[in-house]
Formats: sequence, C-alpha cells, structure tokens
Amino acid sequence: MTKSESTGLPVDTERLVDVVQDRLSEVGDLDELRSLETEVLGKKSELSLAHRSLGGLEPDARRRAGAVLGETKSRIETLISEKREELEEVSRRRQLEADRLDLTEVVRESGRGHVHLVQRTRDELEDVFIGMGFSVAEGPEAETDWYNFEALNMPPAHPARSMFDTFYLELGEPDAVLLRTHTSPVQIRVMQSQPPPIYSVMPGRAYRRETADARHTSIFHQIEGLVVDRGISFADLAGTIEIFTSAYFGPDIHARLRPAFFPFTEPSAEFEITCTICKGSGCRTCSHAGWVELGGCGMVDPAVFAAVDIDDEKWTGFAFGFGIDRCAQMRHEIPDMRILLENDVRFLRQA
Ligand code: FA5
Repeated sequence: MTKSESTGLPVDTERLVDVVQDRLSEVGDLDELRSLETEVLGKKSELSLAHRSLGGLEPDARRRAGAVLGETKSRIETLISEKREELEEVSRRRQLEADRLDLTEVVRESGRGHVHLVQRTRDELEDVFIGMGFSVAEGPEAETDWYNFEALNMPPAHPARSMFDTFYLELGEPDAVLLRTHTSPVQIRVMQSQPPPIYSVMPGRAYRRETADARHTSIFHQIEGLVVDRGISFADLAGTIEIFTSAYFGPDIHARLRPAFFPFTEPSAEFEITCTICKGSGCRTCSHAGWVELGGCGMVDPAVFAAVDIDDEKWTGFAFGFGIDRCAQMRHEIPDMRILLENDVRFLRQA
C-alpha cells in the first residue's frame, strides 16, 4: 500500500479509481461484478482500511482526507452501477432472444391444422405461373379510386363502374378510397414500378357489395396476370390460358373464350370451363348454363398504357384476372362457394 503524500492516507485514491475502471472493463457478468464490488468497497478493501486509518490523523488533515475518501467511494459506486445497468440490459436482451417463439413453421397434414383451401389454391396457381416464367407481385386491399377505376380507363361516372358494386371507406375525400373490387389495380402499380418487359401475376383479396350465392361471395380472391413485351398478340394470351388450364385442371377439361367487355382491355374475353359439378348438363351451381366463368382477359387497352406512360407504339400486352375461389370450387367440385368462408371444421378438415 503506497502512502499518498498530499492526503496522508495509506492509499493513492486516483490510482484506485483507475484500477477499478480497468478491472470493470474486463467484467463479463453480474457475478463477476458483485465480487469486484466486494473487493473494492467491502470491509477488507483498501478504501475501508484507509477509512479506519483516519483516526490517526490530525483533525484538519482527517477532515480533508475523509472528504477525499468519500468522493472516491462515490466515484467508484457510480462506475459500478453504470456497469451493472449495462450488464442487466445485455442479460435482458439475451432472455428476450431465448424466449422468442418461431411462429413461421407451417404444419401441413399433421392433424394439428392445415392450410386453408383458398390459400392452397393460391399457392398452386402461383406455382403454375412461376413455372411459366412469371414473377409474383402484390398490392394493397384498400385502394384509391384512381388505381381501381380511373387508371383502368373508367373515369368518374363511367357506366362500367356499375359492374363493380363497391365498398367505400370513410377516408379522405368522399368516395376517394375503397376496398379494391378486383386485383387489376395491381397491374397499374406493377407498370409504375418497373419498365417492360413484364411477366407478372398478382394474387390477392377483392371485395364487392353483392348478394352471396353458389358462385359469389362479397370477399373473394383473384389472381391477376400481366404481360407487356414487344409484339405480344391475342394468340399469346390464348396459349398462356390453355397451358394454365391443363396444368391446373388436367388435360380433360373443356374450356372456351367468349367475347366480352372490360374497359381496360380491347378486345376482351371471358374464360369459361364446363361446370365440374354437372359435367355440363346444367345445375344450380352453374345456373343451368353448363359452363362456369373463371375470369376475364384481353389485350391491354392503349388508355391504360397512357395512364402509366408506356409507349403503346413500342409495347403491347395482355392481362387476365381469374377467381381463385372459383378455380378451387371447380377443381374440387364444391357445389356452393359460401362454405369456403363458413369455417365449418368438418369442411376445413377434408379440404
Ligand atoms: C374482373 O374482375 C376483371 N378485373 C378481370 C380482368 C382482368 C379482365 C384483366 C381483363 C383483364 P370479373 O368481374 O368478371 O372481372 O371477375 C373475374 C373473376 O373473378 C370471375 O370470373 C370470378 O371467377 C371471380 N369473381 C368475381 N366476382 C366474384 C365474387 N363475388 N365471388 C367470387 N368470385 C368472383
């Protein structure tokens, strides 16, 4: 123990604080910190021994030395408590990491649960298109009027808007924000976010204010498709739909394209398959038509290209939008689509 010349104490207090600082930098956990604390502040510490030696000093020197010791002790206590906070924070973080549950595991067919038929169908449809070289994109379910209608060549008061009975949200200007009535607005978002060539599918949920029946619900799912490239023709569209149909339904399915109207495609068509419930003879599910519509399609209208600044002299394209629930319904021969939303475990278990 070296005697400090200025204080008359048997300890060099400045050196002691430096030593404590050095030792603290090597402390790795709370146990080590506790033993260091006992060593430097406990009964047998240099500081305590120095305190006991105060009695041998003259009153003035004792007062000065006592003040130095008090100050040294509180500096050391502060250093130790800062270190304690730091170690406690590290241990809290470690505990949180250890407690974090991995909820990402998808348990299929194990009896503990399965993926809903609509999600499974969406995954399967995505796989078919990915296999054909398409990429997958998504967009928001709450959309603006511009994306859902205007950019798709349906200005305000356009009669074609009545094809889509719309749920509007009370957000911003009246009738400015809505629940998207189809996945077609995602076409616009994709064309805004990347230059052609584009080969993209866009699955997701859509909403319409309509009365539910065997083939309609007010919440349903679509998969949109968009191709924009040089020299794309209607034959490319027809070929793509044919490949998709036999990949998803098998080679025996009967399908047809019928002329139709959509403001965002020209020419437009509806894509239908023979009703799988009655095999074409007519039933309640197909409203006795023998055919069920799966989606709409057509060549991208130049007005849509104009809305996103794509030069229609240089680029052409086609688009389609299929009902995912409708595809699941036809493939799995489900007479009434409403069961997809009812959460009846007897259905969910077998689906
Ligand atoms: C459209 O929604 C167009 N956006 C499709 C399109 C995209 C055309 C790109 C051209 C180019 P439509 O309203 O016909 O079109 O709906 C397409 C498909 O969505 C229907 O054939 C059906 O399979 C499904 N669908 C539509 N409404 C419902 C509903 N209420 N319940 C379940 N499925 C529905």
